[in-house]
Amino acid sequence: NNNQFCDATNIYGDSGRNVMSSFSSKILIKGGTVVNAHHKEVADVYIEDGTILAVQPNIKVSDDIKVIDATGKFVMPGGIDPHTHLAMEFMGSETIDDFFSGQAAALAGGTTMHIDFVIPVNGSLSAGYEVYVEKAKRSCMDYGFHMAITKWNETVSEEMEIMVKEKGINSFKFFLAYKGSFMVNDELLMEGLKKCKSLGALAMVHAENGDAVFEGQKRMIELGITGPEGHALSRPPVLEGEATARAIHLASFVNTPLYVVHVMSIDAMDEIARARKSGQRVVGEPVVSGLLLNDSVLWDPDFHFAARYVMSPPIRAAGHGTALQAALAMGVLQLVGTDHCTFNSTQKALGIGDFRKIPNGVNGMEERMHLVWDTMVVSGQISVTDYVRITSTECARIFNIYPRKGAILVGSDADIIILNPNSSFKISSKSHHYRTDTNVYENWKGKGKVEITIAGGMVVWENDELKVMPGAGKYIEMPPFSYLFDGIDKADAKFLSSLRAPVKRSTT
Ligand code: URP
Ligand code: ZN
Ligand code: ZN
Ligand code: ZN
Repeated sequence: NNNQFCDATNIYGDSGRNVMSSFSSKILIKGGTVVNAHHKEVADVYIEDGTILAVQPNIKVSDDIKVIDATGKFVMPGGIDPHTHLAMEFMGSETIDDFFSGQAAALAGGTTMHIDFVIPVNGSLSAGYEVYVEKAKRSCMDYGFHMAITKWNETVSEEMEIMVKEKGINSFKFFLAYKGSFMVNDELLMEGLKKCKSLGALAMVHAENGDAVFEGQKRMIELGITGPEGHALSRPPVLEGEATARAIHLASFVNTPLYVVHVMSIDAMDEIARARKSGQRVVGEPVVSGLLLNDSVLWDPDFHFAARYVMSPPIRAAGHGTALQAALAMGVLQLVGTDHCTFNSTQKALGIGDFRKIPNGVNGMEERMHLVWDTMVVSGQISVTDYVRITSTECARIFNIYPRKGAILVGSDADIIILNPNSSFKISSKSHHYRTDTNVYENWKGKGKVEITIAGGMVVWENDELKVMPGAGKYIEMPPFSYLFDGIDKADAKFLSSLRAPVKRSTT
């Protein structure tokens, strides 16, 4: 492991705080191609105290201001990862990357904000929220929270309102899988959808049929298949398609927007495509592992190697990933996450002899920006402006923090990356910045490199060195009623006005 962030902690620990905040708070980025989701142009960017103050050609500044030459490079909004699990207690373990190590790695890869999932404590949202506030205290980059709903009662319903109105949470996730732990039934999902709608909060689903997965697992064990391949075989794409369709239909019935997390199969993607074609507000989030990897690794004879790739829904057969890439390019799917959820080799080994006990999850926070660039832009599947849209802007819009985040505009936060398209990257667990000891993209090479990351107006990644500070990251409150809710009430009004007066029937 690369320990640069540990060194940086020492250098910029508590005593370094004042040094950092007075150091280089004014920066001019000169001559780069500034890329937003809607437009790109050659321009300079001037930032001061964490905010973008000017975007225009030929900005002049005095000599004492730090100037970064970005000629021939792309100046883009920092990535926003909509889906991470740092320091999450899950399947008898806790994910090895916490808010500091995961975020430091993310910054080295050009991501400057992420949204993590708060897990309730015994169903209590407020208790779960307090736990996550504590976990996030050492944050070195900005972050927001989604919240999972795992139980239903009057208290949960009231707490959802408190989370939205007082705690800056505007999205709630419902797990249709993980029977016996997080899974919710259709009745709870519908209650949740109704509550989300009334609060202007976005409902998110992990779409796999948990009862059927349970059956599939029994089948595999009966067949004597206990290795990592049993994980994929026990929960095939049809179960993801079924749950995706079910959640979409219930969201349509309630008439509220829906966000499907980690879309891993053609089956799920097709359901989203069909719903969107009919005008329903459904957002589909593929993750990097689903776009780039295929299930062949799960059959590797080395348990330790194969177990690294165990996540849910599973990484699918080759063909699903390329179809998801095409869907992302054409707007059927809207933004890319990672589902970053790392367990080290020792933790993954809990599942030796029984794939049901392998903690689920893969890495991605540090690699996402590079891998999406190489796979989608360098290959010619999408434009540079679309790259910004799917890695940053669309996430900011969906979670209602645009244009503070997701844009290089006057007044936006100074979360900026400088990517050199002529340089290259290589991924390895020997050089990555996570705490975890393996990497599912080991030895992956590609074109394009994030050379500089600026987060909150500070250069945190430059010359392959991290300069991060625990506590520098801010909690970003996300207000309800994003653009996805505009006009939702019109459809309800139309439905009500379409109801004619009650039919007068004779009963004789
Ligand atoms: O395998 C996964 N995806 N682990 C994280 C939890 C989840 O379902 O998102
Ligand atoms: Zn999930
Ligand atoms: Zn081994
Ligand atoms: Zn997840």
